[in-house]
Amino acid sequence: MAIRISPHIAGIVPYSPGKPIEEVERELGITGSIKLASNENPRGPSPKALAVLSEAAKTVNRYPDGGGYYLRDALAERWKVAPDQIILGNGSDEVITLLTKAFLEPGDEAVMADPSFVIYKIDVTAVHAKPVLVALKNHRHDLPTMAKAVTTKTRLAFICNPNNPTGTYVTAAEVTAFMQAIPPDVIVVFDEAYYEYVTAADYPDTMALLKAGRNVVLLRTFSKIYEGRAGRPRG
Ligand SMILES: Cc1ncc(COP(=O)(O)O)c(C=O)c1O
Repeated sequence: MAIRISPHIAGIVPYSPGKPIEEVERELGITGSIKLASNENPRGPSPKALAVLSEAAKTVNRYPDGGGYYLRDALAERWKVAPDQIILGNGSDEVITLLTKAFLEPGDEAVMADPSFVIYKIDVTAVHAKPVLVALKNHRHDLPTMAKAVTTKTRLAFICNPNNPTGTYVTAAEVTAFMQAIPPDVIVVFDEAYYEYVTAADYPDTMALLKAGRNVVLLRTFSKIYEGRAGRPRG
């Protein structure tokens, strides 16, 4: 009997990850290439991380603490929020998946820029909700048009700041105007994966929005935070 894949799933164009570097070198008959895809740290893991990993390897016979008790506590202390305001994921990718599962029902809408981080569209589509794409303007999020794209069906809005793939950012004033223009029950997801690289003085303080009680989610990630030399954690 023919199996049937749900049409909204079958229509998803899968994320295409870069090939392993060994494979590229074998195909092209080259050596010594440098992989720049996926914005990974090219300099290898920190010796401190390697030491912790080898210690942790001694207890892999036990389930790990899936809730990340100590890490949540440490992050809560670091950002002066309650531990239950923090959720950890296997990368912020997983948190994006959880957000779409938690807040979107079939037919709901999620507003996002285009092009932006491709996972938003994939995850929104996977829960049978509708990604509403708003074209970038001069390679930047067009927040006034994104605000106008919000309807009574909109549950989520994604703002990738700085944006992947264009590297542009939206300013504090632009975000303030956006937050004023949309209904307070729309959850705004600020994906700040590249937060530690921002130097602009007019970059928005989204943590202040959270502390003011707005419905916002801030995504941060350890995968981009260290670029190998001295990282430059902010704030
Ligand atoms: C804008 C943005 N958000 C989220 C992610 C996901 O990162 P991770 O799952 O490693 O936290 C990436 C990865 O490239 C990204 O560029």
